[in-house]
Amino acid sequence: MKEFDSKVTKSILTGIQPSGVITLGNYIGAIKQMVKMQDEFKSIIFIADMHAITVNQDPSLLHQNIRSLVALYLACGIDPEKNIIFIQSENEYHANISWLLECNTPFGELTRMTQFKDKSSKNANFYAGLFTYPVLMAADILAYDVDYVPVGIDQKQHVELARNIAIRFNKKYGDTFKLPEAYITKEGTKIMDLVTPTKKMSKSSENQKGVIRLLDDTASIRKKIMGATTDSGCEVKYDAENKPGISNLLRICASITGKSILSLEEEFDGKNYGEFKKYVADIVVDEVSAIQKKYEEIINSDQLDKILDENIKVVREIARKKFMDMKQKMGLYK
Ligand code: AMP
Ligand code: TRP
Repeated sequence: MKEFDSKVTKSILTGIQPSGVITLGNYIGAIKQMVKMQDEFKSIIFIADMHAITVNQDPSLLHQNIRSLVALYLACGIDPEKNIIFIQSENEYHANISWLLECNTPFGELTRMTQFKDKSSKNANFYAGLFTYPVLMAADILAYDVDYVPVGIDQKQHVELARNIAIRFNKKYGDTFKLPEAYITKEGTKIMDLVTPTKKMSKSSENQKGVIRLLDDTASIRKKIMGATTDSGCEVKYDAENKPGISNLLRICASITGKSILSLEEEFDGKNYGEFKKYVADIVVDEVSAIQKKYEEIINSDQLDKILDENIKVVREIARKKFMDMKQKMGLYK
């Protein structure tokens, strides 16, 4: 078993869907928080590729996204010594456990999942996997007896379902699972679209000019920042309501440099938007270039496979034991 720092006792588990290249918003709002949490918790992170196939995917693109996402997380500071990072589908026990859990989950309970209701109402031709997906998520969580599951508020109901499934299973078959708790990640600094700064920067945005992706070439990142929408004034002042564009750039700058908004305002007192934008562009390009450099090193070396191969052995063994225990308790043995 991977040795964690012995002062760290509580564990967390996070699943990340491999949908497209992550944005500067994901990096500032979520990944930077994960990097901090790796010092406080034993941390398991996996790419939820089996969740991604609940909707149609292009197989070769999905394959690329999975590999690239692991490399990008490592490049952003997820430390393979402090985390167990792996690819969900490489551990077949998640699906095995999920089936046993499905046979212990009332149908009615799944029909109450708000994400399912929302997604199925938008596309009538959905697959059965979209409906049973929360049980697979419960399997992901319960396989490892973790304490907390850091998720955004939209996933809270799924973690509560996992907890209810565990309570019921423990009652019916004897103590089997640790009861997990949702750890609602405070919304980190929210980064807005560069063209429409009243809207969140999002992977799925139609206008690429407003979105910075971590693997964009640096010349285009610079161009996007220099072309960011700003108001007609000229003062570099934080005012989210009346100056959403400048305020967004100030937030980006503050989170990357660690400087306060106030000190940035002072630094740019009397200077114009052009000078400020150039500064922001330099900072973002520096940060992203460093990430890209590490990414290239990781994706082009055998380090990635080494990490994944070593980790999958560890997590398969943990999940296998849980599966065998469940089978035994349910009478599935010869
Ligand atoms: P998503 O890309 O919507 O799947 O979100 C993945 C994670 O990144 C979640 O924790 C989001 O809260 C966070 N995130 C996504 N977009 C932004 C943004 N523009 N600003 C800050 N955080 C974001
Ligand atoms: N369902 C989560 C999402 O869409 C991803 C996920 C899958 C997950 N399994 C998980 C998150 C287990 C936390 C724990 O974002």
